[in-house]
Amino acid sequence: MTDMANASKDILGAQAGYETYSNNFAQRIGVRENDRYTLHSEHLNEMWVRVLKTIGYDVGFTRGVGSYLWDRKGDRYLDLLSGWGVFAIGRNHPVVRDALVSVLDAELPNLVQLDVSVLAGVLAEMLLEYTPWLDKVFFANSGAESIEAAIKFARAATGRAGILHVAHSFHGLTYGSLSMNGDEIFKKGFGPLLPNAHEIPFDDLGALEKALSSRQYAAFFVEPIQGKGVNIPQDDYLIGAQNLCRKYGTLFVADEIQTGMGRTGKFFAIDHYSGVEPDMVVVAKALSGGHVPVGAVLTRKSIFDKTFDRMDRAVVHGSTFSKTDLAMAAGIATLEVIKNERVIENAASKGERILASFRKMVDHYELVCDARGKGLMIGLEFGPPKSFKLKTAWNLLETANSGLFCQLISIPLFKEHKVLTQVAGHGNHTIKLLPPLTITDADCAWIEESFDAVIADAHNAPTAVWSLGKTLAENAIKARMSG
Ligand SMILES: Cc1ncc(COP(=O)(O)O)c(C=O)c1O
Repeated sequence: MTDMANASKDILGAQAGYETYSNNFAQRIGVRENDRYTLHSEHLNEMWVRVLKTIGYDVGFTRGVGSYLWDRKGDRYLDLLSGWGVFAIGRNHPVVRDALVSVLDAELPNLVQLDVSVLAGVLAEMLLEYTPWLDKVFFANSGAESIEAAIKFARAATGRAGILHVAHSFHGLTYGSLSMNGDEIFKKGFGPLLPNAHEIPFDDLGALEKALSSRQYAAFFVEPIQGKGVNIPQDDYLIGAQNLCRKYGTLFVADEIQTGMGRTGKFFAIDHYSGVEPDMVVVAKALSGGHVPVGAVLTRKSIFDKTFDRMDRAVVHGSTFSKTDLAMAAGIATLEVIKNERVIENAASKGERILASFRKMVDHYELVCDARGKGLMIGLEFGPPKSFKLKTAWNLLETANSGLFCQLISIPLFKEHKVLTQVAGHGNHTIKLLPPLTITDADCAWIEESFDAVIADAHNAPTAVWSLGKTLAENAIKARMSG
C-alpha cells in the first residue's frame, strides 16, 4: 500500500474515532454499535426511532441467518416479517453469498452501459420460464421503480392515459405508484398525484367493467392477493378481470412484488387460477435474495416494442443501476435455490399447517374472526368481541386509534415469545405472517404456541396485555392531540 493510501486510511480511522484502523469492515463499523439509534435520530428518520422505542423494538438486531434474527443480547427471534417479504429464502443464504463473492472475484466489468451483460440475459431467460406467454423483461432497482416502468409501457402501448387500481392496493411510494395507492395516509400532503389514476373496489367485476367501458384506461393494476389486509379475491375475479381488460383494450398488470417467487405456494399467485396470463407481471423483493435491490417487469414483445420502437429510442426508459451484476447474480442464485431446495413446496405445506391451526383459533377465541391466506402469506384477523368485559376494553382501544388492538398481539409476541410480526396496514385488525419460505416444523410450532398463548391472554381482561393496551391508547390520544 502506498504512503498516500496508508495516510488516508489513518485519517478515516481517526475521523471515525477508532482506536486502531482494522481491515475488517464489519468490525470497523461494529465499534459504532452503541450509536445506532442516536445516529438515526440525528441523521435519519427520528420518528421511526421514536416508534421503535415506544413499542420496545429497539433491541438492536445484530445477526440474521435463515428465518432467525439475534439481538445484541444474543436472544434469538423468529422473523415472520422477512424484511417485508424480501427474505423468501432466508437471510444470508450461502448460495446467494457464493454467487455474489464469485462475481466480485471474477472482476467483471459491470455496467459498461455501451454493452450488454450475460448475467441479465440469463436471469431474464430464467424468469420467463415461469410466464411462457411473455417474452421480454425490463429490470429496475425496486418494486416501485418496476411499477413506474409498467405504467409508462402501458401508456406507450395503448396511447391512453388512464391507470386503474383497486381500494387498499399498495404498489410503492414513488409518484406513479403512489397515485395507485388505496390508502389515504400515504398520499396525504404529497399531491397532486397522477391525474388519470382512478380507484375501484377490489374483487368487484361490475365496477371494473363500468370503469373499463370508458375505454380511457391504459392498464388495470392489481395484486392477486392484497398485501394490505391479506385480501384474497373470489376464484373467478382475476380471470374475469383479464377477460374484461381484453374486451376493452386495457392491459392487465399483476403486481406480484409481494406474492411472487413462491410466497403463496406457487411460483406466482396468479398460478392458483387457471388461464390467468397478464400482459405484465411485476416482481421485486425476493428476487434480490435479500442482498441487492432489484425489480423486473415481465411483458409481451408487442408491448415492450411500443416503447423501444426505434434505435434512437433504445434508451428512452431505464436507469443507471438496473441490471447491475450483483443484482442479476443474486436473482439467478435465488431462482436456483427456489428450484433446488423445493422452497415453494415447503411454503405450501407449512402454510397449510399454520392456517389449519389458526382456523381452530377462529372457532375457539371470540376475538379472532378470520384466518386466511395462501402458502406463507397469512392473515389472522381480530374483531369486536361479544362479552361485555372484552367489549369495553376493545372499544377503548378502537376509540383511541382504529387498529390499535393488533399491537396488543404483536408486542407481546415480540417481547415474550421473540416472534417478529406486523399489522397488515393502517387501521387494520389483521396480523400478517410473511416468513421466509424455508421455515421448519419447529418454527411452525413456535408460531402456533406463541400466538395461542398471547391470544389466550388477551381474552383475560384485565391482564398485562390489556394494561399495555391502556398505555398504547393513552399514547395514541397524546400523539393525536400533539399532532
Ligand atoms: C405489492 C407491492 N407492490 C409494490 C411494492 C413496492 O416495492 P418497493 O418497496 O421495492 O418499492 C410493494 C412493497 O411493499 C408491494 O408489496
